[in-house]
Amino acid sequence: EIKGLLFDLDGVIVDTAKYHYLAWKKLADDLDINFTEKDNERLKGVSRMRSFEIILEIGGVTMPEEEKEKNCTKKNDIYLEYIYQLKSDEILPGVRKFLEDARAGGYRLALGSASRNAKLILEKLGITDLFDEIADGTIVSNAKPDPEIFLKGAELLKLPSDSCAVFEDAAAGIEAAHNAGMYAVGIGTEENLPEADIILPGLNNITIEDIVKKLQEVER
Ligand code: BG6
Ligand code: MG
Repeated sequence: EIKGLLFDLDGVIVDTAKYHYLAWKKLADDLDINFTEKDNERLKGVSRMRSFEIILEIGGVTMPEEEKEKNCTKKNDIYLEYIYQLKSDEILPGVRKFLEDARAGGYRLALGSASRNAKLILEKLGITDLFDEIADGTIVSNAKPDPEIFLKGAELLKLPSDSCAVFEDAAAGIEAAHNAGMYAVGIGTEENLPEADIILPGLNNITIEDIVKKLQEVER
């Protein structure tokens, strides 16, 4: 029986990918690396440092650890300029209602995000109170597809893995959910998320009851 719902943040609750892109783009330009919007797809769900390493790979550039750290801090400072401007109207369509209804339906909700800025983003969107627990990039050391973030979320909710469902827009996140022994609801397309148990274009016009019913029909 599904009792806990774990939500990725970037790409499921809010479209921050565009701000991550603008910040990385600025940094890449400064480093003379040609980084495109298409490359940005590879950064979804990936930790900050790993994202930077992917960009360096694209540019065929290497640099010492210390300098990498400096650049990641620089990127985050640029990213935060956008995040400080974030308002509740940027919550993706249907998400707030979906979360409210799920809570009212007795489900326990947790965030499961790789972002170290997750709490700030939830505050800016005004939806912190909709989550019972928050598992974010500040409390884990292994990035998705490692299951750590979702296992941590389930632990905080005091629920076993097999009673949790994860909502994810990144392939690495779907893999992480399965590695944690949880159901995986893909937010996106069949093409991008072939491993998801079910796929939805978004969280509007669907109820948690519909989703749970569909998941129970899926063979695991
Ligand atoms: C994930 C995003 O949610 O968080 C990634 O999909 C991002 O693109 C990662 O790199 C880390 O985010 P932050 O806010 O800690 O830099
Ligand atoms: Mg995501």
